[in-house]
Amino acid sequence: EEVAGEKCTKPDPVTDSLIGCMDPTTPCPPKPKVPVLDFTPESKVKRIRRPVHLLDREYQEKYKEAVAKMKALPASNPLSFTAQAAIHQAYCDHHYHYDPDKKNVDFDVHNSWLFAPWHRMYIYFYEKALGQLIGDDTFGLPFWNWDTPAGMVVPALFKDTFANPLYDRNRNPDHLDTVANLDFLNNNKSTPVAFNGPHDKAYEVAIYKNLATVHQQQLRGAGCARSFLGEKLCTDNISKQGQGSLESMAHTALHVWVGRQGGGTSCTGGVVDFKGDIKCANDMGFLGSAGRDPLFYSHHANVDRMWHIWSTKLGGEGFKDPEWLNTSFVFYDDVDNPHPVRIKFRDVIDTKNLGYTYDAEADKDLPWKDCQL
Ligand code: C2O
Repeated sequence: EEVAGEKCTKPDPVTDSLIGCMDPTTPCPPKPKVPVLDFTPESKVKRIRRPVHLLDREYQEKYKEAVAKMKALPASNPLSFTAQAAIHQAYCDHHYHYDPDKKNVDFDVHNSWLFAPWHRMYIYFYEKALGQLIGDDTFGLPFWNWDTPAGMVVPALFKDTFANPLYDRNRNPDHLDTVANLDFLNNNKSTPVAFNGPHDKAYEVAIYKNLATVHQQQLRGAGCARSFLGEKLCTDNISKQGQGSLESMAHTALHVWVGRQGGGTSCTGGVVDFKGDIKCANDMGFLGSAGRDPLFYSHHANVDRMWHIWSTKLGGEGFKDPEWLNTSFVFYDDVDNPHPVRIKFRDVIDTKNLGYTYDAEADKDLPWKDCQL
């Protein structure tokens, strides 16, 4: 039974989702075998997402246990770790097309106004599944707090320790104990700076530059929905890059920063893309394989938090366009009895509807707020 990562070349009748300006023969989500239910908002906030680097021992163990259990599920379960990674791949690695006759027109949840809400939905169901696996429905997905100095490094919890389910070997070894470069795309020549080394000039500069990058992403370059969340997606502009600053800046930089680059034919465990090209196993560094690294989900929890902060603290307002608000996708819910749920963008604008929020302590003073270059 193939539920995720299936190559779709014909429209799936189950999905009338997506947005009006696109071809109505929309792409297909994993094909449900049972009826699709409509999402119902959660009645109370019971999950708090906390910074990974500040988790206490007990919480760390819970997170590991939950991911270990998810990894142990059979791939046929759409909430298994394997299927979760495949779902992300399906939505960005040429698996879906707008129109069966136009196979060169790929559907992608990146590069447009789909980015923030789609990923919010995706990690919401991931988080719920983790909680269910450990019998704790208050489990909040910990976030990689890369916008604060103490969090600007691959979190220690994800490192290579004995049989750590949060570890992934396809990360760049040169970037593991160095200050994460949130502007890596524009500046990938400078030598990485030791994170735990003496807090010298180079360290201070690297941290300061990161704060300025987040400031640019969240404030200076984020004045309206289009600049922050991305451009409206229409069939006539899908080849254009329509990323908002939420997607194009720290988010993408850290994907590439964490991933293992290069490798050529010698790389192992590569991903074969639809053209038959082998992409090296650099998990985070390539969208098609990014979901294979457990760090991906904590990274996206912080991306999601950046959206939450923008809309709850910085005066940002999302789109009023009904095409955006009514866009829906189908995800699976319930590890024990997986069934498809249709959820709309309008359902996820306020995280309360999804029963989670972010640790208020972590948002008290946002170190990048007044920091610009
Ligand atoms: Cu779907 Cu960070 O990407």
